[in-house]
Amino acid sequence: MTDEEINTEILLDHYRNPHNHGQIDDASEKLLEFNPVCGDTVQLTIKIDNDTVSDIKFIGRGCSVSQGSASMLTDKVKGMKIEEIKKINEEDIIRMLGLKLGPSREKCALLSLNALQKCIANHEKKAQGGN
Ligand code: FES
Repeated sequence: MTDEEINTEILLDHYRNPHNHGQIDDASEKLLEFNPVCGDTVQLTIKIDNDTVSDIKFIGRGCSVSQGSASMLTDKVKGMKIEEIKKINEEDIIRMLGLKLGPSREKCALLSLNALQKCIANHEKKAQGGN
């Protein structure tokens, strides 16, 4: 098996058996992100304590890349400091998946990162006294 085949299997396993699937009832932030091209969705709920993501869950509908990467990303960031999460960029996600993706599939892969970045931005706005 090549690395690419192994990484495809890992992604498909996350897709079929997603980690951190569901919703947090008393979430600090909740955000639904969708891909306007295909209509697929990722909704994140996250719990933030002491500038750390203490819990994170997702629900969504869509392709193996969008849903599998949401499962992998939620695993990665659970327990991480907000400041560390803010450094995660698009290349990190592509590297995490370890797959060669065309531009439209990259959008699928980045759906959950976009949702997470918006959650963090909303949280910081509130912390700055927005409401
Ligand atoms: Fe819609 Fe992948 S085809 S997110």
